[in-house]
Amino acid sequence: MKNRFVFFDSTPTDRRYFTQHLAAFNAELSFYQEPLTEQNIELARDASVISVHVPSKITAALLHSLPQVKFIAARTTGYDNIDVQAAKHANIIVSNVPRYGENTVAEYTFMLLLALSRKIVPSIEQGKSGNIDHTTLTGFDLNGKTLGVIGTGSIGQHVIKIANGFSMPVIAYDPFPNAELENNYNLRYASLQDLYATADIITLHAPYTGENKHLINSQAFAKMKKGAVLINTSRGELIDTKALVAVLASGKLGGAGLDVIEGENLLSLDEETELLLQPKKRGFDCAIEQMLLEKMPNVIITPHNAFNTTEALLRINTTTLENISNFFKQMPTNTV
Ligand code: NAI
Repeated sequence: MKNRFVFFDSTPTDRRYFTQHLAAFNAELSFYQEPLTEQNIELARDASVISVHVPSKITAALLHSLPQVKFIAARTTGYDNIDVQAAKHANIIVSNVPRYGENTVAEYTFMLLLALSRKIVPSIEQGKSGNIDHTTLTGFDLNGKTLGVIGTGSIGQHVIKIANGFSMPVIAYDPFPNAELENNYNLRYASLQDLYATADIITLHAPYTGENKHLINSQAFAKMKKGAVLINTSRGELIDTKALVAVLASGKLGGAGLDVIEGENLLSLDEETELLLQPKKRGFDCAIEQMLLEKMPNVIITPHNAFNTTEALLRINTTTLENISNFFKQMPTNTV
């Protein structure tokens, strides 16, 4: 029987790329735009390889219903949407795509920060309407402001390099500090408490591990400087969104740029409609938190889009192809 490879969360570009480059495998390839969930498990029936992006939720129950799956190719760096322990128990190998987005996500981080610091959204709105009031568009310089970087891996390092170009001193926290970074860039490692108290802008680049859920909570906000700005391109679960709403509403936090947010799948109309039809308390809370944040003039929310450049997408597909090929050569790469 032919191997079956099923790609979820896929785009027409993914379909073209993998159809061309996996031809030699003589496998049956299926591509779905939708995520894989426990509700549409039939789509993955008989697949030996499944490949997913962030929206697919690979739970233990789902894997239990797909005993023929041998390999999961995550087309992402983060893999908190996959129950890796359950996969291990089922002898399924999981690979991810590390490092495709180091400059891509770092550039986006600064796009969010500059959009906030220079009030780009209201500037464009006022320019379009012709109702221009420069007194409402005053921003702040990045030059000389201290940037707090939480997580100094691939993306965090690029953020630090860009920050150096803006003449921003950097204070960083990582459980595994990188001495080379500290020697080569304008950077000092410190405790989280020190970082909260010192940074004018805090940006998150740590993976979501479950253990660091709500790392940025009301106690953390209490320690931050008045007017501090928070940027999150990592994972929504790192921030207690309810506490974020409260600290923004109180005026203590200066602003937030969020590419990721708890319950971010609710940004789609389908998911919100499903929530209305099948109410879930946490889902409702997330929807309300998001609605409140959307209304705040000093908050920018984008739909998990930091990864999305032509170059990064090609790097993702190239590495995913290598991961699949190497799995079949019994030399799996980028396993998690
Ligand atoms: P990486 O693995 O190279 O670096 C992560 C760093 O975080 C490591 O140095 C690690 O020691 C550190 N870390 C781990 N736990 C920590 C904690 N509790 N506090 C502080 N630091 C901690 O990962 P990379 O490539 O830099 O990506 C970081 C995250 O960015 C990914 O895990 C993913 O969640 C997110 N991401 C988001 C994208 C988007 O489109 N918004 C695209 C790509 C990645």
